[in-house]
Amino acid sequence: MSGGTGTAPDVAAEAARRRTFAVISHPDAGKSTLTEALALHAAAIEQAGAVHGKSGRRGVRSDWMDMERARGISITSSVLRFEYGEVLLNLLDTPGHADFSEDTYRVLAAVDGAIMLLDSARGLEAQTLKLFDVCRHRGIPVITFVNKWDRPGREPLELLDEVEQRIGLRPAPLNWPVGVAGDFRGLIERDGGAFTRFRRTPGGATRAIAEHVPAEQAAEEEGEAWSTAVEELALLDEIGAALDPDAFAAGTATPVLFGAALPNFGVSALLDTVCRLAPAPSARVDDTGTERPVAAPFAGQVFKVQAGMDRAHRDRLAFVRVCSGRFERGMSLTHARTGRPLATKYAQTVFGRDRSTLDAAYPGDVIGLPNAAGLTVGDTLYVRTPVVFPPIPAFAPEHFMVARATDNSRAKQFRRGIDQLDGEGVVQVLRSDLRGDQAPVLAAVGPLQFDVVTARMAEEFGAPVELTRLDYSTARVTDKESAETLSGRRGVEVLTRSLDGALIAVFVDKWRLRALEREHPGITLTRMLAAG
Ligand code: G4P
Repeated sequence: MSGGTGTAPDVAAEAARRRTFAVISHPDAGKSTLTEALALHAAAIEQAGAVHGKSGRRGVRSDWMDMERARGISITSSVLRFEYGEVLLNLLDTPGHADFSEDTYRVLAAVDGAIMLLDSARGLEAQTLKLFDVCRHRGIPVITFVNKWDRPGREPLELLDEVEQRIGLRPAPLNWPVGVAGDFRGLIERDGGAFTRFRRTPGGATRAIAEHVPAEQAAEEEGEAWSTAVEELALLDEIGAALDPDAFAAGTATPVLFGAALPNFGVSALLDTVCRLAPAPSARVDDTGTERPVAAPFAGQVFKVQAGMDRAHRDRLAFVRVCSGRFERGMSLTHARTGRPLATKYAQTVFGRDRSTLDAAYPGDVIGLPNAAGLTVGDTLYVRTPVVFPPIPAFAPEHFMVARATDNSRAKQFRRGIDQLDGEGVVQVLRSDLRGDQAPVLAAVGPLQFDVVTARMAEEFGAPVELTRLDYSTARVTDKESAETLSGRRGVEVLTRSLDGALIAVFVDKWRLRALEREHPGITLTRMLAAG
């Protein structure tokens, strides 16, 4: 074993050819379909059906829980990895349901770029807006894909306007549709003007037939649809809607592409754009504000911990994003929070529900570490030169429940289960001396998180729980002095967050919060990241 650094140029070159990204969208905008189409284009799988989890086809999504299957939602996230030419793409799946936006946030902490997927008929929807906010917050550059152009939808200029007006991102179309949504003829590349005409293949299960047609011929054959597109393009040139790479990198401009994932219209252009424009892994800032270059010795951050992803592997898997250096299986890592060594003999790649042994990984890659007891979300692992990456901030919870074991003789299992779910970030666990260890408060962004707790406590830990709703709806981070001021006041309670010891003040509603702020102007009540 080389000690894990590899030679610096090697690591830098490997990092430079990686693109680690996620697709953010509202449920039903076509995320699974697009994921499948991207993978198809990259020739990772022969048949489109192989990735798509619906219609009884074999799923890449890790639908490991009965609950998840029953509700048809994706709670867990997995990593899809495929090569496209020289580029290695890591596509991190994000859960679609709003109640699990906290999971999505953590996944977004591990990517370098995102595709914002819009339904051409719906434009920006609630969940897209929330997720975009997270991207903005983390400074993640966003590429926009307007999907379902094969169906009736809105005007392209109107959609661009919406992106600019509602989220303040300057749109820069890279291609332009010929034919209105629903009567899609093809795409004109803005740079160079090449026209690609698309024809459907039955069912869309294979690549669409893409035909390059010279402009004069297209003008003749497409008639009015062509002249409208050409006029619109002239208008775009006039208003200067060209992509400014610096503005894209700074998260203030977005390249926009049109297409339809289902029949594979415009998907290869999107893939090319991701390879060309999405940022490669770069130096990460640590908690002292110092940059750790990609070629530094290995360091990574845990962005997700998950137990029982698959019944065949009932274990606990920590997902680690490689931030610097070369990772080699078998390497002994240091767990920054505890200073303890961590063996990595069984490191894995995670491709949906399939796992395979991983021998080496580079910045941008995701490693799965099984049975990594003691690892929690946000933890840093390194070799040789110590580093701690800033924690992944928690969302502001809006739902609160007291958890109690229904069977007192299962107190030990209860404690272990709650601690584990806390470490995985399934819910935030808040405690106080007053409430005691046997009645922690569970805090969640969305109520479905509690269903996960109930199911897993019973099935996995053999400690069924009873949850009692608390009448709080908003939370702030506070300090010791302010906690004393708030103590005993009506409509507020101060608890300690188990994971990091932060003091969290919870309030019945925002009016009570405001009243207390008015009464005690010097009080510290810091907002947490809003889920929406
Ligand atoms: P999601 O993961 O974002 O929730 O969306 P998903 O890919 O499941 O797509 C939602 C629905 O939209 C699916 O139809 C899918 O086939 C359809 N869809 C996705 N992209 C396109 C597109 O480019 N054009 C058209 N016309 N439809 C598209 P469904 O009927 O809900 O599911 P299914 O039974 O077809 O799988």
